[in-house]
Amino acid sequence: MAREFSTVGVVGLGTMGAGIVEVFARNGIDVVAVEISAPALERGRATLKGSTDRAVAKGKLAEADRDALHERVHFAVGLDALHSVDLVIEAVPEHLDLKQRIFAELDRVCRPDTILATNTSSLSVTEISVATSRPNQVIGIHFFNPAPVMKLVEVVRTVVTAPEVVADVEALCARLGKVDVTINDRAGFIANALLFGYLNHAVGMFESHYATREDIDAAMKLGCGLPMGPLALMDLIGLDTAYEILDTMYRRGGRDRRHAPVPLLKQMVTAGLLGRKSGRGFYTYERPGSPVVVSDEATPPATEAALADGARAIAKVGVVGSGTMATGIIEVFAKAGYEVVSVTRGAEKSAKVCEAVKTSLNKGVVRGKLAEADRDAALGRISWSATLDHLADVDLVVEAVVEELSVKKALFASLDEICKPGVVLATTTSSLPVIDVAMATQRPADVVGLHFFNPAPVMPLVEVVRTIRTSPEATATARAVCAALGKTGVVCGDRSGFIVNALLFPYLNDAVKMLEASYSTADDIDHAMKLGCGYPMGPFELLDVVGLDVSLAIQRELYLELREPGFAPAPLLEHLVTAGYLGRKTRRGFRDHSHR
Ligand SMILES: NC(=O)c1ccc[n+]([C@@H]2O[C@H](COP(=O)([O-])OP(=O)(O)OC[C@H]3O[C@@H](n4cnc5c(N)ncnc54)[C@H](O)[C@@H]3O)[C@@H](O)[C@H]2O)c1
Repeated sequence: MAREFSTVGVVGLGTMGAGIVEVFARNGIDVVAVEISAPALERGRATLKGSTDRAVAKGKLAEADRDALHERVHFAVGLDALHSVDLVIEAVPEHLDLKQRIFAELDRVCRPDTILATNTSSLSVTEISVATSRPNQVIGIHFFNPAPVMKLVEVVRTVVTAPEVVADVEALCARLGKVDVTINDRAGFIANALLFGYLNHAVGMFESHYATREDIDAAMKLGCGLPMGPLALMDLIGLDTAYEILDTMYRRGGRDRRHAPVPLLKQMVTAGLLGRKSGRGFYTYERPGSPVVVSDEATPPATEAALADGARAIAKVGVVGSGTMATGIIEVFAKAGYEVVSVTRGAEKSAKVCEAVKTSLNKGVVRGKLAEADRDAALGRISWSATLDHLADVDLVVEAVVEELSVKKALFASLDEICKPGVVLATTTSSLPVIDVAMATQRPADVVGLHFFNPAPVMPLVEVVRTIRTSPEATATARAVCAALGKTGVVCGDRSGFIVNALLFPYLNDAVKMLEASYSTADDIDHAMKLGCGYPMGPFELLDVVGLDVSLAIQRELYLELREPGFAPAPLLEHLVTAGYLGRKTRRGFRDHSHR
């Protein structure tokens, strides 16, 4: 029989604590909510009220249930109020000495059988536990932000946590409607160990003006389907908390440089820019605590104004290539009303591409997403050619041929001879340096990267890559074209992986390393990222879909260009590729897909 928890205490009512109070009170458990001072207590009370009022306004909570919820919460200043609770969850700032002091005090105040839990994200639960005389009753219960919404709880057992305490806490999580993963005491547990290197890397991109905050966030939302971009997520987590988590992970997690907080973070924390809770972080919010972003001096001008800024008029577009990407891109341009000249290496290939475009457009008609007349008009806009000479009068060329530098360079040299002046020449490369391709022409200022995602007709994101020689007009034109295609163009520098792959693949590689170290299982790691961070797929699901060979190649490129030791491909990934386990396409990758 699992132990009954009828009253729990929550210490610290900040970003996490207030949410944790709500989780318990919503599930019929009485809560003693404790803060350090009366004003802090009032802030916590206001946060809880704001959250439950929003739930009522959205129809997710009945008014009577809200009132009952509030009646279950008793607010107090100081730990003495916790003398008779069954369980305490501590959610004070991420400092070991502070947490140890609080645990020593809780040990003194609470009943001998009370379970003491910490919500720490990165500190050692073991080190916190030894501040008490009952380390076997100390455990980590790591909720995710926002606690009332996110389904995951990481239950962290130390080497001395009693098995029945673990079992009781697991049963409690189930009662709260949460999904728990139980793991050992390692810095960052599952989710944060995989998340924070990525977040810190995104801050580094922003700090180095590699891309704007809006573009970094849009890239990860639209390119990977994440619920929030990394900088918006940093603001939600709180920059002070994020700094402490990174700092602890750096020190506890083997001094991985990727966890050394980017200097900008410290500056922002010192300047009081803590994110949503202070009303300003990477973005500016309506008021402290509000989720509503308002314009500030860094907000880019509205699209139309930006587009007028030097963009050249584009009516006719050449697409070179006959693969999956070229086919999708031809369809996208033709559907958006552009005249398209498709150039392949022969009539046979053209016929194949034409057939594929027709099939895809027909699917749109069958699904009721495209009128027959629009399909016919789109097809009517495409002309099929096997010679580059037909690109003499286009305004934009999009190259989507094989991913080989020598082939692309030769093609761009030919385009340079054939195309009229002022044409924007774009490559869809996902891994080669755009500047290499640009320098094969006499007009590098007109060359950009236009990195479409697969399938191009569906994916809303395009990375616009500007090299150190690209002109502002060429970049503005590329961006305007993306908008005209109904896609979001994000502008970034010419580095391996651009934005999305540079941020995504090291995270996937880290997940493989975590599995390899036997810290957790593929299922639990996938669960943790989906339920703790709202990712549409877990890392192993995604790796099997993308293909392990493709993932390994991208990771190798990143490692070679940036020489970051933490980017070294996980040996397990290399072994699986060597063994021919490439993911869904070979029916086996991290998982066996042969029966599905
Ligand atoms: N922010 C996140 O996204 C997140 C997610 C999961 C876990 N965590 C962890 O939760 C813990 C709290 O983080 P947060 O982001 O909520 O911090 P926060 O700064 O938003 O809130 C901390 C609260 O603790 C209070 N406090 C400080 N000293 C206290 C004391 N002696 N007694 C009682 N209350 C005290 C503060 O007044 C403040 O309200 C940290 O360990 C953090 O790592 C944070």
